[in-house]
Amino acid sequence: MRVGVLTGGGDCPGLNAVIRGVVRKGVQEYGYGFVGFRDGWRGPLEGDTVPLDIPAVRGILPRGGTVLGSSRTNPLKHEDGIRRIRETLAKEEVEALITIGGEDTLGVAARLSGEYGIPCVGVPKTIDNDLSATDYTFGFDTAVGVATEAIDRLHTTAESHMRVLVVEVMGRHAGWIALHSGLAGGANVILIPEQRFDVDQVCGWIESRFKVRYAPIVVVAEGAMPKDGDLVLKHGTKDSFGHVRLTGVGEWLAKEIEERTGKEARTTVLGHTQRGGTPSAFDRWLATRFGLHAIDAVRDGDFGKMVALRGTDIVRVPLAEATAKLKTVDPKLYAEAGVFFG
Ligand code: F6P
Repeated sequence: MRVGVLTGGGDCPGLNAVIRGVVRKGVQEYGYGFVGFRDGWRGPLEGDTVPLDIPAVRGILPRGGTVLGSSRTNPLKHEDGIRRIRETLAKEEVEALITIGGEDTLGVAARLSGEYGIPCVGVPKTIDNDLSATDYTFGFDTAVGVATEAIDRLHTTAESHMRVLVVEVMGRHAGWIALHSGLAGGANVILIPEQRFDVDQVCGWIESRFKVRYAPIVVVAEGAMPKDGDLVLKHGTKDSFGHVRLTGVGEWLAKEIEERTGKEARTTVLGHTQRGGTPSAFDRWLATRFGLHAIDAVRDGDFGKMVALRGTDIVRVPLAEATAKLKTVDPKLYAEAGVFFG
């Protein structure tokens, strides 16, 4: 049997560990052959392939990014996308596809499996940890580590100058990175997309922090928005996914804080540093196990499924179910962090 592998959507530390796990077990235990498709769905769409065998996966475990490349190409948006994918799979003699991706990539895999009979197994990835059906996605732990280290460093410089330091972290729809790194780094304010914030309340927390002679750290997820609808309309724009959000919420918030409190404020946008570099040990462990279980699903002919972490077990869930709903921060968890605000 020949198996195709692709990585789609935003890259994420741990992708190479999945590819390695899939290929090592597939070749060693099942005698399968592999072909890599370059840049997510663009690969099968355009017949762009990469050789994938044991030598090709040697040494890639600790490497960030993906040796296969990635893109946000959606074959369902091409009129003849399905026909072209079928042609590539036939030409490459590929009988199963392992698709490693987030909401969009797996959404396509769900439809290809369910509606077009193209045998896909999904592996969830995103640093945002916002895929339902799995307790954790790999990449998240690494991103939280990067953000926590940044917050630790920002505490000392903030205190030297008695300034407010606003740290903008990733998370368009979910505040998992903000919540976890904010708690781990001892932030004084954490703002997440799930709950609109009141700028005056944030300023109140900041002022109370200065009263005890500590410089406040504000962690804000990139998708967080103020309660004030007028502010959102005035400063909001549509992102590439068509969602309205404040562009540069960190910069914007620092300016508001300066104007309203008279305190000096600076912003650090962590951006893609959270996605790059070597995966943490936890992410390598999770990604490797996802890879091993994905190739087992192929062996079992269990298509239209996604591997997922439940507790410490790896289980299989229907792809359609897994991509149907985003996993956002539970208000109870967020409320728990509130004791540290101010
Ligand atoms: O989905 C992961 C994510 O990292 C988001 O948090 C972020 O908004 C987005 O990807 C940015 O992706 P890109 O810059 O690749 O478009």
